[in-house]
Order: sequence, then structure tokens, then C-alpha cells
Amino acid sequence: MEGNFTYCNPTKLYFGRGAVRFLGGELPKYGKNVVLIYGGGSIKKNGIYDSVVKILHEGGKNVAEIAGVMPNPTVEKLYEGVKIARAHKADLLLAVGGGSVCDYAKALSVSVHCKEDPWEKYYLRFEEPTCETLPVGCVLTMAGTGSEMNAGAVITNPAQKLKIGHVFADEKIMPKFSVLDPVYTLTLPHYQMAAGIYDIFNHICEQYFSGEDDNTSDYLAEGLMRSLLHSSRIANKDMQNYEARSNIMWTATWALNTLISRGKSTDWMVHMIGQAVGAHTDATHGMTLSAVSLAYYRHVMPYALPKFRRFAVQVWGVDPAGKTDAQVAEEGLSAMEAWMREMGLVLHIAELGVREEMIDGIAESTLLLEGGYHTPDKNEVKAILKESM
Ligand code: NZQ
Ligand code: ZN
Repeated sequence: MEGNFTYCNPTKLYFGRGAVRFLGGELPKYGKNVVLIYGGGSIKKNGIYDSVVKILHEGGKNVAEIAGVMPNPTVEKLYEGVKIARAHKADLLLAVGGGSVCDYAKALSVSVHCKEDPWEKYYLRFEEPTCETLPVGCVLTMAGTGSEMNAGAVITNPAQKLKIGHVFADEKIMPKFSVLDPVYTLTLPHYQMAAGIYDIFNHICEQYFSGEDDNTSDYLAEGLMRSLLHSSRIANKDMQNYEARSNIMWTATWALNTLISRGKSTDWMVHMIGQAVGAHTDATHGMTLSAVSLAYYRHVMPYALPKFRRFAVQVWGVDPAGKTDAQVAEEGLSAMEAWMREMGLVLHIAELGVREEMIDGIAESTLLLEGGYHTPDKNEVKAILKESM
């Protein structure tokens, strides 16, 4: 652990079957006015909405709603929510949904009392809130983003063709509490489950593929990846398997709750390219990552052979005997590709609606971050995108 760091994660988690019953115990900590935030209606079909509303009414709360938060929530939707939360004098923002709904609630938390334009302040200038922020609670219905226990909030501006994540520095933007009932994830379609699984896997990779020191975070990352591969294969065949789905949900949280990034510079370029694809196509987040990952990792592998060799051996069980580092590393990526195919992940951006003539614009929308083993320039990003077609 060569790096110096601070670690603080204040989110209280309630995990397991029936965990929503603990929501009632959280409510008295906040004022009367609750804004209930949810997506396109899945929670009305599977009964989660009714359970949550019943608990809110039993707790004597005055509830307003923001419905229809779309996957990849937009800045226009954020402005709409600000008006509702202001009119309701919100004391608590309760997100019931996946990462999009949880992210949206955090973006709202820093925007309701903000006197400036939140898109410009938080997403273009990356400033921290200077106004009062509102507490957020989450009832999670989809495993993937880790939004339930982090301070990240990704917002899309379709007009500017930008999809930007701000990870707020202050832990007070993390949810105060999150309810994680794996049963709630059992109604997800296979496509969303698989996308979530790849999102988890890639969050771990983004943190793992950086740094050269011997770092406990890497061993934690390898353990999480092995657990995820094991459970994902079970869930892929048997989506209703509670044991596998509960492990996937817990792994998602630990993959991106700041633990395994401690002491790491972290890469995040797959996310930057994937988010740019998302800004131009509105495709499902996890699939934008899977579609660009293999080309990206094959591109950076020569800059970090020892780490890719370790990944192959520790995560994919490649036997290194008698092989060069490059051979072992490539076998690791081939095993990863085979798993991705088995999971039914999207491996080509063309399948997400990208056409050849969009590549320059997508590269233009890609933020370049330093921290990985090699920071690509815009021409390299274009080459990775072409390779991903
Ligand atoms: O809107 P509804 O009707 O609820 O349907 C949703 C949505 O269509 C559906 N769904 C969710 N739970 C369900 C369900 N359908 C049936 N049963 C359930 N139990 O799934 C669809 C996708 O939901 P969404 O919330 O968009 O998915 P996800 O959790 O993958 O969130 C994606 C968003 O999170 C951001 C992404 O960029 C994207 O905007 N991210 C947030 C991060 C963070 N906060 O740290 C990090 C990630 O890298 C990611 O960028
Ligand atoms: Zn992600």
C-alpha cells in the first residue's frame, strides 16, 4: 500500500430477504416530507411500490413522487425533479430502483437548494456543493452500479451528447441508508441482469488495472471477481437462484463503495469510452462497457504485462507453466471473452446502434483520464471504437 488515503463510508445497509421492514425504523430520523423517486414502472408491477408506500404512510410521511426516471437519467429530468422537491419542501429523497434512480436522487440532493445551474456546476466544472444537501435513502432493485453505497451520480445531457459521472468528494452525498433485498432483483430481465453483472466486473477491473505496488486492494479485487464469476454462471442458467443473486448483489456493493480503490490510482477508461457510447446511443450502461472492453484491454495489455498475467492466473485460473507472460495474459483475456459470450453480453458497439460515421463524435465525447497503465489519446480511442464495431 504505497498510497496515503482516507476511508469513510457512512451508508447503513439492510441486506437480505424482507429487509424493507427496516425502512420503518429509518424514517423517524428525517422530517415529514418525503419525495419518493422511481423509474418507468417495474416497481408497480412487482409489488415493491406498494410495500414502500405502505411503510411511508404508516410512518406518517407526507409523500410526493417523481416517477419515470429513465435509465441514463437526463439533465431535463433533473430540472423537473428540482421543481417538485422544492415545492414539496423535501426532507428526505427516497430512491426505489436501480442505479439510475439512486444516481438521480443524489444529483437531486445537491441541486434542490443550489442557486447555480447544477449541470454546469457539478458536471461541467466538477465543483462540490456549496448549498444545503438533502439526505438520500435507497431501496435497490437492480445489482450493478454500486450507487447504493457511493457518492457517484451519472447524468446525461442528450443535447450536448455528454454522459458524465460526478463522484462527490463529501461522504454526506452517499446514501444515508440502503435496503438490499436480493429477492427484489429476481424480476429483472436477463439482459439487465447480465448488464449489471458486467458492470460489477468492470468496476473491479477499472480499479485493479492500475499501480505496481503490492496492494491488499488487488487481492480483495481478485476475490470479488472470482465470487462474481462463480455466481454469474449459476444465475445465468438459473435466474431465480437466490444464493447466486444475493452474492451478486453484495459483490456489486463492494465493487464500488470505495474500498478496493484505496491506494490505487485507478483506470476508468472503459467507463469513459462506454459512457460516450451511451451519450450517443442511450444504450444500457453495462452493455456499453462490455462492447468496448476487449478492444480496450487488448490495446493496453502490452503496457502492463505483469498485471494481465496475474489477472489470467488469479482470476481465470490460467496455468502459466512453460508460457511467456504475453501468452498467459492473452489466455486470460480469451477466457474473459468466453465468459462474456456465455453471459450473452453485447460485444460490438454496432449492436448498440453505433454507425461508422458516429465514431469521431463518440471519441470527441470521451473524457481522457490518467491513472491506468496507458492513457489513450483521441486517435487511440477511435481505433478502440473501430475495433469494437
Ligand atoms: O425504470 P424501471 O421500470 O424501474 O426499469 C428498470 C430499467 O428499465 C429496470 N429494472 C430495475 N430494477 C428492476 C427492473 N426491471 C424489473 N425488475 C426489477 N427489479 O432495469 C432497467 C435499468 O435500470 P437502471 O437503473 O438504469 O440500471 P443500472 O442499475 O444499471 O443503472 C445504470 C445507471 O447508473 C449509472 C449508469 O451510467 C447509468 O446511468 N452508473 C452509476 C454509477 C455510480 N453511481 O457509481 C457507476 C456506474 O458505472 C454507472 O455509470
Ligand atoms: Zn459502471
